[in-house]
Amino acid sequence: MHVPLNDVFKKLEGLGFEDIRHNYILEKDNASLIADEFGFEVTINEDYKDDLFPDVENEKLLKERPPVVTIMGHVDHGKTTILDYLRKSSIVDQEFGGITQHIGAFSVITPISKKKITFLDTPGHAAFLKMRERGAIITDIVILVVAADDSVMPQTIEAIKHAKKSGVPIIVAINKCDKHGVKIEKVLSDLSAQDIDIEDYGGETQTVKISGKTGLNMDKLEEAVITLSEMSDFKAEPTGIRADGWVIESEMIKGMGNVATVLVRRGSVKAGDFLVAGHTYCKVRGMKDEHGKPIKIAGPSTPVQIWGWKDLPESGDQLIQASNEQTCKRVTENRITRQKEIQASRDIESINQKRQDEI
Ligand code: GTP
Ligand code: MG
Repeated sequence: MHVPLNDVFKKLEGLGFEDIRHNYILEKDNASLIADEFGFEVTINEDYKDDLFPDVENEKLLKERPPVVTIMGHVDHGKTTILDYLRKSSIVDQEFGGITQHIGAFSVITPISKKKITFLDTPGHAAFLKMRERGAIITDIVILVVAADDSVMPQTIEAIKHAKKSGVPIIVAINKCDKHGVKIEKVLSDLSAQDIDIEDYGGETQTVKISGKTGLNMDKLEEAVITLSEMSDFKAEPTGIRADGWVIESEMIKGMGNVATVLVRRGSVKAGDFLVAGHTYCKVRGMKDEHGKPIKIAGPSTPVQIWGWKDLPESGDQLIQASNEQTCKRVTENRITRQKEIQASRDIESINQKRQDEI
């Protein structure tokens, strides 16, 4: 509908819906109601049959899935250090030696509750922003990193704005707490001044005082993510549904061809599946996890490298499973044609504008 997500939230709230988040699933009747509010008429196709999964009853298929977490914050506040720490400790935990490839997303198992969390790496940050522009939100939780020795800075405020607009809950990680003389009280009051209702002042937003360098309270940070996920109850259908997800990044790798790092949102992807993303498609030739280990199947919230793409899909592209190669071809051709049409009409518009300006 090309309506900002926030407006949809407001409408939903106005209609009495509670605890609305970006991944809220609307029943068809409610979806029609909302569309109606924005002046759209919805036609529900009762005869619609999904050729891949003819008998889908989504509610029953929903299972708990790992939360997807993005780390944001001001320059030099320690985002990469934190991710590196999490990544390394996860390798140790899994006793999986060897070299970790730098891929845009990775999963860790938490030290205490042994639950899985998927982190998006900094390229994921770019994908996050791009997708937000399109009104799609890939992340469930934002960890807002604030360096204790620097406090709230312009990009911290920017990150708060993005998270709030998307309706994504925040956990604050006050980093560099190993440093001497840091004033945590100042960070807390600066955050509060940005309308973050931190638990230290009786609010709901968890704050964890950490050091990405020494590892101080990093386990607590992971547990904070698990606590928040348990409250939010993140779910998806691992089976019985057409798989979809997001392209985090893509590259040409010698010997493998076009490879995309993908985050599966719903359903499961396996070798031989057909996938469409942006202007290209793929017959999945193989998949690897973030450690370079081959995997057979990738379910919800799983980051995975997939190869077999005709061309490189773009970071931020949505990915969807198709039933066969013909469908993939048709969809991508349609998309390319549509884009050309849009471009052509833009060109005409700008020519007309120029003429008018001249007149
Ligand atoms: P950008 O990617 O440039 O935005 O920075 P970043 O947020 O990824 O910060 P990065 O992890 O690169 O850390 C910046 C500097 O702070 C580096 O010199 C780190 O070694 C240092 N640093 C990060 N975390 C800590 C910490 O917990 N304690 C201390 N003492 N130094 C830290
Ligand atoms: Mg960095």
